[in-house]
Amino acid sequence: MSEKKILIIDTDVASRNFIARNLAAQNYEVVQVGSGKEGLISAWRDRPDLIVIDPTIPDLRGEELASKLRQDARTANTPIVALSSDPSVMRIKSCLDAGYNEYITKSGQAVSNLNETIGRLLGITAATAKQGGLLIVFTSAKGGAGTSSLCANIAMNIFQSQPEARVAVVDMVLPIGSIGPLVGYEGKQNIVTVCDIPPLELSPDYFQKELTEMNLWKFSLLAGSPDPESSNHLNVARIWDVVAGVKSAFDYVLVDLGRSLSKISLPLIQHADLITLVVSTDVSSVSLTKILLEYLKNKGVRENGIYTILNRAIGLEGVSKPDAEKILGIPIKSAVPYLGSNFALANNQHQPYILKFPKETASFIFTEAAKEMTALAFKLRAE
Ligand SMILES: Nc1ncnc2c1ncn2[C@@H]1O[C@H](COP(=O)(O)OP(=O)(O)OP(=O)(O)O)[C@@H](O)[C@H]1O
Ligand SMILES: [Mg+2]
Repeated sequence: MSEKKILIIDTDVASRNFIARNLAAQNYEVVQVGSGKEGLISAWRDRPDLIVIDPTIPDLRGEELASKLRQDARTANTPIVALSSDPSVMRIKSCLDAGYNEYITKSGQAVSNLNETIGRLLGITAATAKQGGLLIVFTSAKGGAGTSSLCANIAMNIFQSQPEARVAVVDMVLPIGSIGPLVGYEGKQNIVTVCDIPPLELSPDYFQKELTEMNLWKFSLLAGSPDPESSNHLNVARIWDVVAGVKSAFDYVLVDLGRSLSKISLPLIQHADLITLVVSTDVSSVSLTKILLEYLKNKGVRENGIYTILNRAIGLEGVSKPDAEKILGIPIKSAVPYLGSNFALANNQHQPYILKFPKETASFIFTEAAKEMTALAFKLRAE
């Protein structure tokens, strides 16, 4: 991993040194200056990857500094984080309006907030998103939609049609992951333990060797958090690096986000090659999905990068496919029938559906969906 450079602009030497030490310990290269004017010079000369500014610096208003940085092509897109001794709402607003990406108040939580923010802002760039295997994120607006079952089964079906492909599944559902129990994983490693491993140790080789390949399923698993207490200790600043690491070692990385959309998981959605949106046929699932779609659109997610699956589509009372399409305003790409107790049966026995019920229509639907999804993700990556 290349070293990222961070510029700190703050008059308070003690505060500056403290932050600098904390960042250096995380392998960032740190440049620090004590005034706004020096800050501008350094920003344009040293080309930092991110700038941390205390906007209360006296020589230049923090807001003015940010707008100058924003107006110059060299720093127009550089993430700027306010680490401020002014907690007032007015100040927060004027700084965000001036071009700061985030505003953190100096407090007991400041260092962990800053680390999380920097990890998030620096972790993902359009360039790193396009490196490595294709990232397919599974999400839903409502729990129980079938996200985990479909994620595991689609992953398995990708291997069926492309036996040479290396497929990984990452369970990011918080506070408890469920793919592990579904596929019969019993290992110790999971998303929480892996996010605690020092960055330099997470090579492509590490992921190829350390992620357990699930026998019948033919994919390697990075299991989810085993319990809520562990998920409280998840080092969220490291998530993108870990996902990027898995991408560097596999051709396809399927991430189960379930319905745990948050500040933590949004960047994964925004930088996925394809988003698989699982919708149940009940009225509330469809209407909540409509809200989720609006939100994603506002966050810059492109509509043609969303692959919608209507689950439990046939056999149960509920919203029909045409009605669901009308409400959602986007086409439904695949419809999985209601499978009665069969899906639960296959899941309980830790078996892929297609192996347990190879002749059923649903097995063909999974195979087709897997083919379409990989083809679409491939096409979108190339655009
Ligand atoms: N098409 C279907 N027909 C019958 N049962 C289904 C179907 N899809 C999912 N199920 C069952 O619904 C239950 C919930 O599925 P699953 O755990 O995959 O959903 P989820 O969206 O991941 O839920 P959670 O919100 O808890 O993460 C499981 O018991 C699964 O077997
Ligand atoms: Mg789930």
